[in-house]
Amino acid sequence: MSSDLATFIRGLPKAELHLHLEGTLEPELKFLLAQRNGIELAEKTVDEVKQTYKFHDLTSFLQVYYPAMRVLQQSQDFHDLAFDYLTRAHADGIRHVEMFFDPQAHTGRGVAFATVITGYRSAIMRARREFGISAELILCFLRDHSAEYAMATLLEALPYKDWIIGVGLDSDERGNPPSKFAAVFARARREGFLLTMHCDIDQTDSIEHIRQAMEDIGVDRIDHGTNIIEDDRLVELAKSKGIGLTCCPVSNSFVTEQMKSTEILTLLDRGLTVTINSDDPSYFDAYAADNYLALAAHAGLDTDRLVELAKNSFRASWITPARLEEFLREIDAYVASSHDS
Ligand code: ADE
Ligand code: ZN
Repeated sequence: MSSDLATFIRGLPKAELHLHLEGTLEPELKFLLAQRNGIELAEKTVDEVKQTYKFHDLTSFLQVYYPAMRVLQQSQDFHDLAFDYLTRAHADGIRHVEMFFDPQAHTGRGVAFATVITGYRSAIMRARREFGISAELILCFLRDHSAEYAMATLLEALPYKDWIIGVGLDSDERGNPPSKFAAVFARARREGFLLTMHCDIDQTDSIEHIRQAMEDIGVDRIDHGTNIIEDDRLVELAKSKGIGLTCCPVSNSFVTEQMKSTEILTLLDRGLTVTINSDDPSYFDAYAADNYLALAAHAGLDTDRLVELAKNSFRASWITPARLEEFLREIDAYVASSHDS
């Protein structure tokens, strides 16, 4: 990979739309928080932590992912997690980010919703002041828990409505279709939240889940969702509704052994608003720019397609039309200046 291309990608203005804040927990911060909160960890070195990162599918990833969160206890811990991520994102050329968080992974072990969200919110405000990066929160429900628990979590979030742009659905998809949460998403829509949800890669019922997300729930965006390529009607539907896909090539290669680059690029070329993101960058050892680079290295992407992917990241985001136009102009100016230099 040429370092020129790496420099070009890092400097390219980008938005990140598929990022789990809890998936940014780097081993170093994990140690620091464990010490601060008097928690004994089984692993004693960064290497030992990384040794536990052995995944062969989504389920085996989630089995490592959720237990690690117990080091997050105080509002300051959530602040530090989000601020560290936003610092890295800024260095990576990310100008706007819409970040998932899993409140139930914390409230379920006795940490108050307010503790979680005030920590995240203070990091967002600080990063905006210090770096000019804009960040929004998307509350994800854990789909392997009940719809009643999700509804209770939605109600708990309502006092913080102004700090949350949308709701999503994550965790283990097996046997947990979008339809299970229809009433929760309908209520979220009535409360003014935008809607997205994971349709993870190569699930047993991927196509039916993608159909339900678009036709029954009425989502504004789909997270992953590349299996849509198996159904021309759904591809056309996503195009006509302007539904973006938040793809995560390096994450794909961990949970399926394939980056799914052919699917991602075919969908891009068929006119879907395909975007590139990092998912859980600490666990997959790749932040946003690394994902663009990995895809470029794997599929031999030219600059035009990289630029299209960066433009799509803003098109699929939930920013205002005026900001979208500004970012698109900025990208054009950046590309023009790179040609000159
Ligand atoms: N939680 C964190 N990353 C996830 C993913 N890619 N799919 C489902 N749940 C997740
Ligand atoms: Zn995800």
